Amino acid sequence: MKIAKSINELDKLLSDSVRHVALVPTMGSLHEGHLSLFRQARLDNETVVASIFVNPTQFGPKEDFTTYPRDLDNDIALLENVGVNILFAPDPSDIYPSGFDTWVDIGELTQKLEGSTRPSHFKGVCTVVTKLFNIIRPDRAYFGQKDAQQLLVIKKLNLDLDFGIEIIAMPTVREPDGLAMSSRNSYLSQNERTAAAVLHRSLCSATTMYNNGERSPIAIKRNIEEMILYEKLAKIDYISMADIRSLDEVLELKKPCLLSIAVYIGNTRLIDNVILGPKEL
Ligand code: PAJ
Repeated sequence: MKIAKSINELDKLLSDSVRHVALVPTMGSLHEGHLSLFRQARLDNETVVASIFVNPTQFGPKEDFTTYPRDLDNDIALLENVGVNILFAPDPSDIYPSGFDTWVDIGELTQKLEGSTRPSHFKGVCTVVTKLFNIIRPDRAYFGQKDAQQLLVIKKLNLDLDFGIEIIAMPTVREPDGLAMSSRNSYLSQNERTAAAVLHRSLCSATTMYNNGERSPIAIKRNIEEMILYEKLAKIDYISMADIRSLDEVLELKKPCLLSIAVYIGNTRLIDNVILGPKEL
């Protein structure tokens, strides 16, 4: 694997590389969820580019930018192992040179769910992903359904700004007890880690209700709420049942819907989701 630590170094590596180029953007501290994206990209493309960049602009002022886990040496070993060709690991000053002041701000889709709790989050995500798309110019880019709203937002960005990149959605990889893998799981104490399984448990229970014919969003949400409230270390941020395209909350379950939850376990905010109904994102 070749490593580029600046845009100039990356340009040289990309000009030697064979198309088709795939991009898997990450913030590092890689786990099996990330690696599943790399493995698929490896199967589908000649050149696989990984980016590792803990993007300061997508963190709110009171969020965990400084404490976000970073382990570049271990990440490099994992990326070598899955056959990534190029790692782009830039400095913040390369992505945001002094005086940088151009932002990609997507409308309504970014104001709901995560956007309602983290108001500037998607502006940071969309700006950095736009920059990565322009710097790397991939044919395909891989994103996880674990961050379902991010996936929808990136698809919209790709469409609205005419990038013409094939966006590939990958299923959520989970721990044996169902907890969705996340770099932030490393913040959890042992008790919190046990408690965190309630997210997936509540989504499974909702899926069972739906499969048994329940079509009332209120009843399904109430069931989730009760399960999470029962877990003393957990605090609900939101429970949403929304249209899988617009992310508008649904009043009745006629079409497939995205059921997503954000829950604090202690001080750690975790998200998870599942689709009720037949359709994929
Ligand atoms: P990060 O949280 O590092 O995630 C990178 C990619 O891995 C995202 O597409 C995310 O959805 C996917 N992913 C994370 N956990 C997963 C899991 N358990 N199963 C499957 N896929 C999983 O998302 C970001 O970084 C950033 O916002 C980024 C897009 C890189 C922009 O800074």
